[in-house]
Amino acid sequence: MSVPLLKIGVVLSTMAMITNWMSQTLPSLVGLNTTKLTAERAGYPDRSTGVLPANPEESWQVYSSAQDSEGRCVCTVVAPQQSMCSRDARTKQLRQLLEKVQNMTQSIQVLDQRTQRDLQYVEKMEVQLRGLETKFRQVEENHKQNIAKQYKAIKAKMEELRPLIPVLEEYKADAKLVLQFKEEVQNLTSVLSDLQEEMGAYDYEELHSRVSNLEERLRACMQKLACGKLTGISDPVTIKTSGSRFGSWMTDPAAPEGDTRVWYMDGYHNNRFVREYRSMADFIATDNFTSYRLPHPWSGTGQVVYNGSIYFNKFQSHVIIKFDFKTSAISKSRQLDNAGYNNMYHYAWGGHSDIDLMVDEGGLWAVYATNQNAGNIVISKLNPGTLQIIKSWTTDHPKRSAGEAFMICGTLYVTNGYSGGTKVYYAYSTNSSTYEYIDIAFQNKYSHISMLDYNPRDRALYAWNNGHQVLYNVTLFHVISSQEL
Ligand SMILES: *[C@@H]1O[C@H](CO)[C@@H](O)[C@H](O)[C@H]1NC(C)=O
Ligand SMILES: *[C@@H]1O[C@H](CO)[C@@H](O)[C@H](O)[C@H]1NC(C)=O
Ligand SMILES: *[C@@H]1O[C@H](CO)[C@@H](O)[C@H](O)[C@H]1NC(C)=O
Ligand SMILES: *[C@@H]1O[C@H](CO)[C@@H](O)[C@H](O)[C@H]1NC(C)=O
Ligand SMILES: *[C@@H]1O[C@H](CO)[C@@H](O)[C@H](O)[C@H]1NC(C)=O
Ligand SMILES: *[C@@H]1O[C@H](CO)[C@@H](O)[C@H](O)[C@H]1NC(C)=O
Ligand SMILES: *[C@@H]1O[C@H](CO)[C@@H](O)[C@H](O)[C@H]1NC(C)=O
Repeated sequence: MSVPLLKIGVVLSTMAMITNWMSQTLPSLVGLNTTKLTAERAGYPDRSTGVLPANPEESWQVYSSAQDSEGRCVCTVVAPQQSMCSRDARTKQLRQLLEKVQNMTQSIQVLDQRTQRDLQYVEKMEVQLRGLETKFRQVEENHKQNIAKQYKAIKAKMEELRPLIPVLEEYKADAKLVLQFKEEVQNLTSVLSDLQEEMGAYDYEELHSRVSNLEERLRACMQKLACGKLTGISDPVTIKTSGSRFGSWMTDPAAPEGDTRVWYMDGYHNNRFVREYRSMADFIATDNFTSYRLPHPWSGTGQVVYNGSIYFNKFQSHVIIKFDFKTSAISKSRQLDNAGYNNMYHYAWGGHSDIDLMVDEGGLWAVYATNQNAGNIVISKLNPGTLQIIKSWTTDHPKRSAGEAFMICGTLYVTNGYSGGTKVYYAYSTNSSTYEYIDIAFQNKYSHISMLDYNPRDRALYAWNNGHQVLYNVTLFHVISSQEL
């Protein structure tokens, strides 16, 4: 019982970090200091608010971009120039409005983090705690009538749990804050109405649409920013039933918006035909696909499609190949030094799954094992252009006893097996070079998982489960410190 309770503690302390981060970093993140940032500085401004008033000097523009040059997510608000700003009451009101929206966005984010599941979990634990406390009091009152041993056992249990009561209280206080935030969101409409009255002819519709647009952008940006620790995996959704027992399928996490092409590779051995479906909808409903013939067959199911190229392990080798779909040609190939191959260090299910390539929020990774690391898992961050190793981490987890592994936010999660009841039970953080044992069960619906990979764009796990293509959603708790941003 103490183990799950400790988890609540972890969750709550991350909450505190989020709040901290929000108050300290968010204002600068959205560029509230009125520095006029140009589109170039903002990286790739993929969209602005669309509502641009005639005079750009008075305009408020919002840019969001997936990444700046350092790979960080950037939301930029281009505010009117300072000199005009201070004199212009209208702009001042807008500024207040923006602040309001910011506050609102923060609160929505906090709400998001508290999934129903976690709330229920905490409530359940609280009931148990309170029950135990009551029982303990009763026992204490009548302890003369009770056997000393029994009394002692309950007392010990209570002592163990007692420190968690204030933690629960804190959680409830946070929940109250969320309610307050909710009210604030509802209040926004009336604030806007007030503004309309004061500003007379000022175009309310335009203002309103700009504000909601801003909110949407901030939200999308924060979502992209928010990395975290895996705390839950949803029930699976079967997308399609096709192919053999082993294979892999995926979408490209770096594809442009609206591009939901699905990539499909049946089998783990000596195959070289990759199917491309035009969209997820096509994949679900049709058997209409384009086929690419790779110059070499692949090994295992560790392929990954990233930014328009497929990265795969060349059959019977420890060579990684980057094949560009646009040009239908190899754009890079490189040996992954010391990596075991040809079923030397496969995952528990076999299938030449020695080298597993994957992509998370931070980029491209290779997961494999070496003799030097005694067959234990090695994690390497790869340069997606040159395939050179940027940095490696050695774990103490035997590769052959891992069911599957996937990377989220720089942490490698390892499952305990590929058949029967499965759970994620080992996590290695490359940020801190430390590991921990965790316990996150997930349903293995068709009893044989030969591929399991995270897609940071969808925040979902893609699995190949015994001839079924399956998706799981993940719950992440956000651990962001301002130094990381
Ligand atoms: C405003 O932000 C820019 C870019 O982040 C920064 O260079 C500048 O120092 C900031 N100005 C103030 C007054 O904080
Ligand atoms: C936004 O939140 C900050 C800090 O909680 C507060 O001081 C400020 O008044 C809020 N702004 C609005 C417009 O509600
Ligand atoms: C709601 O709006 C009114 C004015 O429109 C304001 O006085 C009040 O403080 C607001 N309440 C909250 C919770 O923001
Ligand atoms: C690990 O570091 C990366 C990049 O510095 C960051 O994006 C990610 O949120 C961190 N992960 C965790 C779990 O702290
Ligand atoms: C099949 O897909 C191709 C492109 O991938 C498309 O041009 C064609 O119209 C599709 N055919 C059907 C019947 O959907
Ligand atoms: C994707 O590839 C293009 C060139 O093909 C490159 O400019 C861009 O930086 C790449 N994006 C990522 C996220 O690697
Ligand atoms: C994941 O969550 C999204 C949004 O709530 C939902 O639309 C989707 O169906 C979910 N997918 C799975 C596999 O549960």
